[in-house]
Amino acid sequence: MNVSVTIDGASGTGKSVLGVALAEKMQGTFYSTGAIYRRLALLALERGCDVADSVSQVLMNNEEDALLLKEERVGHKASELAAIAEVREQALMIQRKEITHFLERSHVVMDGRDAGSVIWPQATHKFFLTADVLVCAQRRAEELGLRVEDVLAKMKLRDKRDREREVAPLVVPDGAIVLDTTLHSKNEVLDQVYSFIYLP
Ligand code: DC
Repeated sequence: MNVSVTIDGASGTGKSVLGVALAEKMQGTFYSTGAIYRRLALLALERGCDVADSVSQVLMNNEEDALLLKEERVGHKASELAAIAEVREQALMIQRKEITHFLERSHVVMDGRDAGSVIWPQATHKFFLTADVLVCAQRRAEELGLRVEDVLAKMKLRDKRDREREVAPLVVPDGAIVLDTTLHSKNEVLDQVYSFIYLP
């Protein structure tokens, strides 16, 4: 049976970098549960689409620029849209369907805010990453080529919203292993996480 792994945590804690590397090491598929919110955010920002109509458009439109999707303004808007219950309801159905599809074919590593708590609570392994907020901002600033000061305030705001929203807030999922990545390199975190994974 294929293994499912969830990695949750605030922005900049290293979830996606770890998720991509872990999926590769396990010869599995990486699935970003935030991608749907980012694609929705980009549609809303660039085309002024009504959120109510656009969840289904997101599925049809695969032409977004990967670099644009990574921008902090998109992440910020994604966090705003992700706080809307109706949006989450539709996103959840799509995420579960896609994860089921991938899991039939390979191991799946997914990252997000509610991957282990709401989307896939039955995951074989659950992890929750934390890190000092300044280090998170430094990592994000480096990735996006921005100044730390500019990233820090926005990141704090986004994390506060993700933690305090009513629907599926960022929480440590039941049974998750919590890892503080502040003082560890990408490879150290990968090795540590991999040591917990049991591959049948
Ligand atoms: O992981 P990310 O930076 O791509 O996520 C962008 C935003 O999407 C994040 O600030 C909140 C939202 N999100 C969410 O609410 N639930 C998820 N499982 C993943 C992302």
